[in-house]
Amino acid sequence: MPTLSSPASNTGPQPALIDRFGRSIDYLRLSVTDRCDLRCNYCLPKGFNGYEVPANWLSFDEIERVVAAFARLGTRRLRLTGGEPLLRRNLPELATRLSALPGLEDISLSTNATQLRQQAQALKAAGVRRLNVSLDSLDAARVAAIAGRDVLASVLDGLEAAREAGFAPVKINMVVQNGVNADEIDAMIDYCRQRDFVLRLIELMPVGDTGRSAQFADVQPIVAALARRHGLQPGAQEIGGGPARYWRSPNSRFTLGVITPISQHFCASCNRVRLSVDGTLYMCLGQNEKFELRPLLRAGIDDASLEAAIREAIELKPERHEFREQPAKIIRFMSATGG
Ligand code: 5AD
Ligand code: SF4
Repeated sequence: MPTLSSPASNTGPQPALIDRFGRSIDYLRLSVTDRCDLRCNYCLPKGFNGYEVPANWLSFDEIERVVAAFARLGTRRLRLTGGEPLLRRNLPELATRLSALPGLEDISLSTNATQLRQQAQALKAAGVRRLNVSLDSLDAARVAAIAGRDVLASVLDGLEAAREAGFAPVKINMVVQNGVNADEIDAMIDYCRQRDFVLRLIELMPVGDTGRSAQFADVQPIVAALARRHGLQPGAQEIGGGPARYWRSPNSRFTLGVITPISQHFCASCNRVRLSVDGTLYMCLGQNEKFELRPLLRAGIDDASLEAAIREAIELKPERHEFREQPAKIIRFMSATGG
């Protein structure tokens, strides 16, 4: 454990965060709430109510301190996640504060878009540049069955609001489930192509009982067939700096992203850690290594010691997930770490 009396850091530039496997950690995913207004079948159980108590939520001041420390340690990109991040009151105010931090170059947001109509303009003005929106189906009854509420109309309206506010690119995250929505990918491609949205097909991960009981689909053969049918070519360069591999139509009017944590994992190039709303740093979606920052923050830790604590946490980052070898390992729900 770090001590409050760790030596003060020197004043010169600090080396970036590098983990034990030589990976540079320059991307932070920040879950601003574990609450959600939906209950997607692969994420949260239908009657779920076991949320973190407000007393344990990091305040905006505490979040700003941690993100500023990460930025001093070389973090360049930040993504706001949940639960559903738009449920955190005054999120645009937080985004404005984080946008002003020196060193951070890019703030993005992952949302289910049920409340995006009301907040899109304010989030854009607050400095959020890019949006990822979860959308698994264009059929209202299916969305209701997957997410537990009939929200398709408000999600589609939220997406229109995102376009009107000038967010680009908007990426659509579709978790592919056999027998649930795998037959709808062509319809999703049409919908996204018409609006210049990037569609990203995501392989289900066995996170929580919910993730384990949903219907896994191997996305690789699906993509091979789509590429033939739509004439998609593998993209030359990475975009977004994340785990997605991208395919493009010949005229580049459409981009398909593919995220295959199970059938082809990408741990060797992992560049991220996750901070949950209670101040826990999770080192890997598929492992349990974590580091509690909240007790340190509330004990009055100074900035230099906070940076030292973050460095210590990064040492815990495991080499890779073991979703295949140990599918029962992760008991927490995805909403705790924000995907
Ligand atoms: N496997 C894969 N993706 C998941 N998501 C939530 N739970 C899972 C899971 N078990 C996705 C959501 C959202 C993103 C943040 O994570 O659909 O798009
Ligand atoms: Fe909510 Fe996202 Fe989980 Fe669905 S996947 S229940 S929208 S946190």
